[in-house]
Amino acid sequence: MLRLLTAGESHGPQLTVVIDGLPAGLRIAVAGIDRDLRRRQGGYGRGGRQRIERDHAQIVSGVRGGRTLGSPVTLVVANLDWDNWRRPMQVEAAGFQPKPVRRVRPGHADLAGVLKYDFDDARNVLERASARETAARVAAGAIAKRYLTEALGVTLHSYVTRIGAVAATVPAVVEPAAVEASPVRCPDPLAARAMVAAIDRARAEGDTLGGCFRVEARGVPPGLGSHRQWDTRLDGRLAQALCSIQAVKGVEIGDGFAAAGLPGSKVHDEPWYDAVGRRFAHRTNRAGGVTGGISNGEVVWCTVAVKPISTLLRPLRSVDLATKAEVNAHYERSDICVVPAAAVIGEAMMAWVLAEATCEKFGADSITELRRNVRGYRARLRRR
Ligand SMILES: Cc1cc2nc3c(=O)[nH]c(=O)nc-3n(C[C@H](O)[C@H](O)[C@H](O)COP(=O)(O)O)c2cc1C
Repeated sequence: MLRLLTAGESHGPQLTVVIDGLPAGLRIAVAGIDRDLRRRQGGYGRGGRQRIERDHAQIVSGVRGGRTLGSPVTLVVANLDWDNWRRPMQVEAAGFQPKPVRRVRPGHADLAGVLKYDFDDARNVLERASARETAARVAAGAIAKRYLTEALGVTLHSYVTRIGAVAATVPAVVEPAAVEASPVRCPDPLAARAMVAAIDRARAEGDTLGGCFRVEARGVPPGLGSHRQWDTRLDGRLAQALCSIQAVKGVEIGDGFAAAGLPGSKVHDEPWYDAVGRRFAHRTNRAGGVTGGISNGEVVWCTVAVKPISTLLRPLRSVDLATKAEVNAHYERSDICVVPAAAVIGEAMMAWVLAEATCEKFGADSITELRRNVRGYRARLRRR
């Protein structure tokens, strides 16, 4: 079983990631993890925090000479902003100088968190609710991607399909290099220009924007996940993992909501036998590569809706926790639009779920054993 835990506050000294259950012998390079960390920091519309941070993964356990040992892998990502927050975020009581937040922000975790944990300072909540935590997830996701590539040859990618009112026309073939070169990670250059302008307008108006991104995994074999129980279904697990990203409010598997408005004849993917590739396939892939909670051999794809950022330069009305009077919500340096970054986090979460499901299906204590198990399964599929 593959397990993941992350820890760390947004303005604490570091983020920590513990991954347990990786097989021994998996090649890991820090450069690959740092590449994804950099992609998460990018995207037009980010705030000042990203100018302070230079995210870098330091592996402190579980890897020796570039390969996993089968023991827990621990990674840390330093928060460079910690230097500016030593007093308000220090561990010791003596000399502690909190910067309390009492004007809770609409749409953020502030109010629900203080009510739940009996705090009078929303900073105790927002420090962990903050999407700074997603740097830890992206580091873990980079390792999950390595595992998926070595085990199955799976590759993942993502792109932005909407920012605010601007929707992209997605080309039939999306070039990953073009997406990476786009300031908003959008494969439609015309829409990308309009998205940048929309973000500039929102910034000028003290407002924020949400949008949608798509994430897809290629090379996923049939058979990951199971129809057995509600919590073994791959579609349900993908939806949970993607919806757990801060500010994500909707997840569609394949055609999702569009399919709900169409007759069955326009929705279902007809199977056929590809005699050359010696495999069963589908003529279309509206289901998003998952049927009955099991991957069906097609590209796994999901579209994800991200709400606008809740910290507004021109704040909404709120309430002061202490006086209970109406006030303007707290403002703290913030992003304007994070959809391009959220797409990179989406890759990490999809990679994690697929890695977990791969681990369940193929087990294995070492990479050689894993490859042998995968080879045996693929041979059985070809013999049908
Ligand atoms: C990459 C990323 C960056 C974010 N940056 C901010 C930010 O700067 N300010 C903010 O108020 N919310 C930001 N958020 C969203 C909040 O973390 C999120 O809205 C909050 O934790 C409440 O959770 P919920 O929106 O899922 O209910 C960001 C989200 C992501 C994915």
